[in-house]
Amino acid sequence: MNLPLIIANWKLNGNKKIFSTLLNFLKKNKKVFKQKCKLNIAPSHIYLYKFREIIKENQWINLSAQNVDIHVSGAFTGEISALMLKDMLVTHVIIGHSERRNFHNENEYLIAEKFNLLKKQNLIPILCIGETIEEKKDNKTIEICKKQIDIIFELVGKKAFYNTIIAYEPIWSIGSGNSANPKEVQFILSTLRTYIKEKSSSFLEDFYLLYGGSVNENNIHFFCKEKDIDGFLVGTACLNFDIFLNILKKI
Ligand code: 13P
Repeated sequence: MNLPLIIANWKLNGNKKIFSTLLNFLKKNKKVFKQKCKLNIAPSHIYLYKFREIIKENQWINLSAQNVDIHVSGAFTGEISALMLKDMLVTHVIIGHSERRNFHNENEYLIAEKFNLLKKQNLIPILCIGETIEEKKDNKTIEICKKQIDIIFELVGKKAFYNTIIAYEPIWSIGSGNSANPKEVQFILSTLRTYIKEKSSSFLEDFYLLYGGSVNENNIHFFCKEKDIDGFLVGTACLNFDIFLNILKKI
């Protein structure tokens, strides 16, 4: 494995004080982070501004947003646009997370539109895909993931996945403390990599396949052994700074 890409998805957590502490913690442990991973932080939109300074000073951290609207400006109360994100030095945007698919009724067409918009705006989509527990029991994981990928190809075209990230996050694993089996994840990701390569019919540059779902200090080591896992989308375990640092030390 090259240096893994680690994206810390803070979801609906944190406040001004916690993010100030996080910034100091990142600065203090810069050496470990730089040695162990390519780090990417995804705070809630309203705290993105706090990271501007560290992003400007330190090229070793990238900044992600957790959502984006499909419009870039106009009368769309409450939304955040790609232009605003770029203004905050954001480079990546998480889309298609199961929490948005399920709790905010985002369907696959809306997600594909967001993906398309991000590509046009030169922002890097982090597309989350994954199956429910019922689909897993029915052996439909690969089929479901391919379907979630196909809709993107249909709207964006053959080169859709150039310079993008896909995070395979089985829904049943997220926040459950129950991670997927690393060998099974390896099989799923290698199948998807081949599938995407074939459909892209061109060299797939700068393409990452991540795993997300209850990644922690006890299991990361096993995932790192698998060759098609390029990194991790981490939720709960990044909220505790000591655990987050321990995760890195286990890589
Ligand atoms: P957990 O690490 O809490 O399972 O969350 C994973 C996730 O949803 C990251 O986007």
